[in-house]
Amino acid sequence: MTRVKITDVSKRYPGRGRDAAPVVAVDDVSIDVASGEIHAIIGYSGAGKSTLLRLVNGLERATSGSILVGDDEITTMPEAKLRVARGGIGMIFQQFNLFHSKKVAKNVEYPLVVAGVPAAERAGRVAELLDFVGLSDKAGAYTDQLSGGQKQRVGIARALATNPGVLLADEATSALDPQTSQEVLALLQRVNAEFGITIILITHEMEVVREIAHRVTVMEGGRAVEQGNVFEVFSSPKTETTRRFVATALPTEPEAAHLEELRRRHLGKLVTLTFRDGDVDQPVVFQTLAERGVGVSIVHGGVTDVGGRSFGKLTLELIGDDLRVEHAIAALAQQTDLEVLA
Ligand SMILES: Nc1ncnc2c1ncn2[C@@H]1O[C@H](COP(=O)(O)OP(=O)(O)OP(=O)(O)O)[C@@H](O)[C@H]1O
Ligand SMILES: [Mg+2]
Repeated sequence: MTRVKITDVSKRYPGRGRDAAPVVAVDDVSIDVASGEIHAIIGYSGAGKSTLLRLVNGLERATSGSILVGDDEITTMPEAKLRVARGGIGMIFQQFNLFHSKKVAKNVEYPLVVAGVPAAERAGRVAELLDFVGLSDKAGAYTDQLSGGQKQRVGIARALATNPGVLLADEATSALDPQTSQEVLALLQRVNAEFGITIILITHEMEVVREIAHRVTVMEGGRAVEQGNVFEVFSSPKTETTRRFVATALPTEPEAAHLEELRRRHLGKLVTLTFRDGDVDQPVVFQTLAERGVGVSIVHGGVTDVGGRSFGKLTLELIGDDLRVEHAIAALAQQTDLEVLA
């Protein structure tokens, strides 16, 4: 069980060419990742996500700030000690980064060789790891004979070889089709649940965050602009960047063009209600409408699961005479976020 405490960390690269300003890739970022947590980092290209992960395993040195992985201060650790500390920090990549000239078992065994584990112990450990990722039958295959999902499972087995307390994943499912991506995510969830391994994962797929992350940090221009548990951040995004990201994984209001189309087909008043688990009770909402003699049809949106809680946006057509509809809207507005689509 390993906590990762990133405090006020910055990374500056010298600018390219004479007189070029330095690039601030990571700008005063703090993230406290609890032991056993799955923490997602999202943000547009160039936001500094990969740089931050490279600072965590010491592949690059922070310009300032502190990074504690367990009790190890990574930012100032001498290189020789860092090589040992990296045994406690596994990493997987979008392009898998396997050795193509080595067989699957040799790929998984590699970190054990580097760590100086005796050959007799290595074989058993490799067998155990391949069994865990469901690839026992591929031990003797070359990695270029594997599918993308199988390659990533080899990557995961290799990353787990030295029993790390933390696993860093940089876009680990981005190169995979949706079905395979799901399988790899399920495997990462098992890594987290069965071994209590802390996972920090970078992704641009909000579905990944919604499904497996506990907490999330949104990065923009090197800074952490928003942070919190997945439900809070997704259901009440505070920055425009976050709003745009989460919209891809959540039920939304209809887009302008779609709204026009809906209006052509629905003559009643259109309203969008936001349902946040614990906040609003759907039966109460529908009861309110029924009591006021207002008919309803759902024309857009839905309810989904975010961090184990339900969240949704439903666009409803309210049907009835104007006064009743007005009263119903006033009553609903007391119960939930309601937007009348003008
Ligand atoms: N070695 C380097 N030297 C100079 N600048 C760098 C270096 N590595 C990264 N940068 C710059 O730092 C910024 C952040 O890059 P980084 O790769 O961390 O972004 P990212 O959020 O991972 O993006 P992506 O989603 O495209 O992978 C970018 O402006 C990049 O050009
Ligand atoms: Mg990156």
